Amino acid sequence: MHYFFAGTLLLVYLVFCWCCWRNYQHRQQKIVASHPTALNSTANEILIAYASQSGSAATLASQTALQLQDAGKESIRVALNQLTPALLAQAKTLLVIASTYGEGEAPDNGNRFIARTLGKLQQNSLQHLQVAILGLGDSSYQHFCGFAHQLQHELQYRGAHFLTDLIEVDKLEDSALRHWQYYLGQISGQSHYPDWSKPAYGQWKIVQRECINSGSPGAPAFHLKLIPLTDFIAADAWHAGDIAEIGPGNSAQTIQHFLQQLNRQTIVPEDLLYSDLAFAQERLAELKQLDDETLLRSLPDLPHREYSIASVPAENSLDLLVRQVNIAPGHYGLGSGWLSVHAQLQQPIRLRIRPNTHFHSPITNCPLILIGNGTGIAGLRAHLANPLRAGTRNWLLFGERTAAADSFFNSDLVHWQKTGVLVRLDQVFSRDAQPGAARYVQDLLQPNAREICQWVNEGAAIFVCGSLQGMAQAVDDTLRTILGTQQLESLADQRRYCRDVY
Ligand SMILES: Cc1cc2nc3c(=O)[nH]c(=O)nc-3n(C[C@H](O)[C@H](O)[C@H](O)COP(=O)(O)OP(=O)(O)OC[C@H]3O[C@@H](n4cnc5c(N)ncnc54)[C@H](O)[C@@H]3O)c2cc1C
Ligand SMILES: Cc1cc2nc3c(=O)[nH]c(=O)nc-3n(C[C@H](O)[C@H](O)[C@H](O)COP(=O)(O)O)c2cc1C
Repeated sequence: MHYFFAGTLLLVYLVFCWCCWRNYQHRQQKIVASHPTALNSTANEILIAYASQSGSAATLASQTALQLQDAGKESIRVALNQLTPALLAQAKTLLVIASTYGEGEAPDNGNRFIARTLGKLQQNSLQHLQVAILGLGDSSYQHFCGFAHQLQHELQYRGAHFLTDLIEVDKLEDSALRHWQYYLGQISGQSHYPDWSKPAYGQWKIVQRECINSGSPGAPAFHLKLIPLTDFIAADAWHAGDIAEIGPGNSAQTIQHFLQQLNRQTIVPEDLLYSDLAFAQERLAELKQLDDETLLRSLPDLPHREYSIASVPAENSLDLLVRQVNIAPGHYGLGSGWLSVHAQLQQPIRLRIRPNTHFHSPITNCPLILIGNGTGIAGLRAHLANPLRAGTRNWLLFGERTAAADSFFNSDLVHWQKTGVLVRLDQVFSRDAQPGAARYVQDLLQPNAREICQWVNEGAAIFVCGSLQGMAQAVDDTLRTILGTQQLESLADQRRYCRDVY
């Protein structure tokens, strides 16, 4: 009898695994099948081009296509050399995944793209095209992601609009790939996707949580302080500019609802805390057949969420500024809901640090021009708090909705003004203006053009943090007008124009 029961269970589990595998194969076949039709693509299809020697970029291109397909977006996947001027003229969105070989050169299947395809296109002829580039490389080589950078320059020259700054992946480092997944979520409008690689989280706890914009016309923003469960923060636990990756959990109601649907009293609710119950929702009939242990094992974890760290280790807490996303009454975004409502103070929180080297403070003690809006002030605050930068001058330009409710970290800013860390502070609040006369942080730049040029000539670096939609592009456009495209790009090459936008 026991054998029969165990055998039936095993059979059900194998059928479940087979169904998942078939599903994967079917999706994979659809993507591979799309390959030969590449030259007949439609404007709504996202072009995914890869330049790959040993296969990693090609594999990532397939994974990219699968994530987009799961979000209902059609794409076609081609080797970079297969892209023609006609395809580029027709497409709206191009995602490039490119590795680098030799002395910063292209892999074989991408080595003719610049000369043969882009070379035929005039300056600003790709203004209709939205682009994102994932560069694969190895930082032990002199020209780290050199080919991806070259592609960025060439596409920029032809006016392509960049959805995000080039994402560099060092030795296939998984956190950079999760960052790429975040932008795929933005492009496809689907923020729920399984992580390609699981972050190995540490255990932290929230020790303080405060809504710091009561009465704001915007969504609530929460200032959180977290510390490790061990209470010990090493001096180099993270650097100003780094990102906290959070492993969200389910609310008690979500777990309860799920268990009711399964009609299972034998599962302990805590065992479902981090499980992806949205994934489970689509497979309820199959899951009902499984025993508790197999069921729990078959559920993937919830995907991670990223937040700019607002503090430095010397302040003895890892601070975040989290904007609550409200999807429906009482129903919040996965990460922001977890951090602002569902997770309890002192409860273990899954967190790991993603080193965000392109947004670290400059090594030299040059002045900083910090530009941001909304929760973007988090990533900028960390640079102001950075004790390694003591004695340098900083200028913060910040935009939010109302001065009364949205003056984030105001007491810190006042303190840094007194101590000389912050020599200039320009803030603008859009909702305080007369209707029709709203001004945003980008509108602070042109009136200060002369001073911005002066600071840059004196060696300043420009750091931008906050909204990808609206702010980042408008700031970039205005800086191009003020400094000229060539100077801005040369600042970017020298890591003196750094952005962390989302
Ligand atoms: C580098 C980086 C730094 C960041 N720093 C910060 C920061 O400092 N502070 C900050 O607040 N954020 C920051 N973010 C954004 C953050 O990572 C999250 O994207 C944000 O908190 C929203 O995630 P969420 O899980 O709460 O919402 P999600 O669950 O991802 O929902 C997001 C949106 O998806 C839609 N949606 C999701 N589920 C549903 C549904 N069931 N029905 C209808 N619509 C739905 C809604 O439009 C919703 O607004 C950063 C992002 C990056 C990449
Ligand atoms: C011979 C050789 C040369 C390389 N040269 C560079 C280089 O100049 N710059 C760089 O960033 N990475 C360099 N790399 C690292 C590759 O770009 C990296 O391993 C990448 O992940 C390979 O992706 P692929 O499998 O899609 O070709 C080199 C690797 C090899 C084997």
